[in-house]
Amino acid sequence: MTYWLRVTLLTTLAVAVAVVGASILMYLAVQRQLVAQADQTLAETAEFVIEINRRADPRRRGGPFFRPTLISGRPDVVAQVVTASGEVTRADVQQPITSLVTGEVKQVATGQLASYYGDVYVQGSDGNRYHLRVHAVPFGQGQALQLARLVDEIDAALAGLRDLLLGVSAGGIALAALLGAIVARAVLAPVTRLTWAIEEVGRTRDLSRRVGATGRDELARLGRSFDDMLMALEMSLRQQRQLVADASHELRTPLTSLRTNLELLARGHPADPAERLQVLDDVVAQMERLSNLVADLIDLAREEEMPFPVEDVRLDDIAATAVSEMRARYPRVKFRDELRPTTIRGVRPRIARAVTNLLDNAAKWSPPYGVVEVSVEGGEVVVRDHGPGIAPEDEAKVFDRFWRAANARHLPGSGLGLSIVKSVAEAHGGSVTLERPSDGGARFRLHFAAAASS
Ligand SMILES: Nc1ncnc2c1ncn2[C@@H]1O[C@H](COP(=O)(O)OP(=O)(O)OP(=O)(O)O)[C@@H](O)[C@H]1O
Ligand SMILES: [Mg+2]
Repeated sequence: MTYWLRVTLLTTLAVAVAVVGASILMYLAVQRQLVAQADQTLAETAEFVIEINRRADPRRRGGPFFRPTLISGRPDVVAQVVTASGEVTRADVQQPITSLVTGEVKQVATGQLASYYGDVYVQGSDGNRYHLRVHAVPFGQGQALQLARLVDEIDAALAGLRDLLLGVSAGGIALAALLGAIVARAVLAPVTRLTWAIEEVGRTRDLSRRVGATGRDELARLGRSFDDMLMALEMSLRQQRQLVADASHELRTPLTSLRTNLELLARGHPADPAERLQVLDDVVAQMERLSNLVADLIDLAREEEMPFPVEDVRLDDIAATAVSEMRARYPRVKFRDELRPTTIRGVRPRIARAVTNLLDNAAKWSPPYGVVEVSVEGGEVVVRDHGPGIAPEDEAKVFDRFWRAANARHLPGSGLGLSIVKSVAEAHGGSVTLERPSDGGARFRLHFAAAASS
């Protein structure tokens, strides 16, 4: 069953319950009112008959005084006196109507019942069935006064009311179904539009499509969230494509020179064994750069997955380890460190990688016997060197993948180091910033947001 049909049916059902319930209540209320009026007439007439008979001349008892239909001005009421055995002793109509004498009337005559109201249906001599409202009250010793009134007009009125209410209910329900269908269609229109858009994205795999929802309602918000999701997907896809393109471009250069060198060697060049050794050394160095590059790329690609555990990490310990590694790698650079204990939440190998990359750059661009200052405090690692620094126009690019300054081409490296630092910082909710001290060199500030300094 479609959602549209379900909404339509539910609204119709709700309206139907309300309309039918209201109709039944109204019918019952009117019926009660009409019956109460009829009963009132009967009660008043009974009082009247009892009263005139009480005042009547005892010698003329049984005479013309028992004429309620004439005297009370209620010709529609018939009256008769019934004994406990059910015998009709007096009646104001020519023939006593014995079929009106029910068990309850006899009980009133014997005094078992104080009074009685009820409905009786009798078969008339014309063959019609008549509906009468009956009332009985005690009337002297062992007798009951029974009054009856035709209530056919009440029945007719109720039947008319019933037909009217049936018609109104049926019309109301039909109208509710129609309006429900229209409303449901209008309500579901934005959902339908959203579905089309999503289906189209699924079919064409075109992430540049947008739903373009306007307004401030819930569905517009859903549409906008969907657009945001598409945008994020599109961006990450574009970044991935960019990475693959950049990486293959960067891999081509070392591969070409490797190939050239190997072809030379294969053709027996250079002939001089010492030069051959030199070329072989070059080949090994190029292989190493290539495998470093591949390792970096794998690292970058894995960054988002974070397969390592997140734990409390002592930033100062990581920096101390990295500094001692760098001292061994760059014996001609002097490292001056000031490491205060500070703990952050993070992934240890990634943070170590970021710190190492910063130190490596600082040492690589330091002049011989230059000083690299490292400080750790309050969830922050600051690395400063006294090398050439970074030109202001390059500041925006240093964290880009594969970017290297023009003057950096003679030094080893692939240009991935700082982009790894940046992605590590961002994965930890932190940041990395470059500062240019007034007295030259470069200063990198790696800040971790989730710092719990101790
Ligand atoms: N401390 C620094 N002083 C001067 N220039 C720097 C410094 N750090 C980075 N740079 C510049 O930024 C570029 C990018 O640095 P990055 O660390 O990303 O790459 P890399 O060091 O060249 O290669 P890799 O780190 O991948 O081996 C460098 O090539 C260099 O031009
Ligand atoms: Mg580097």
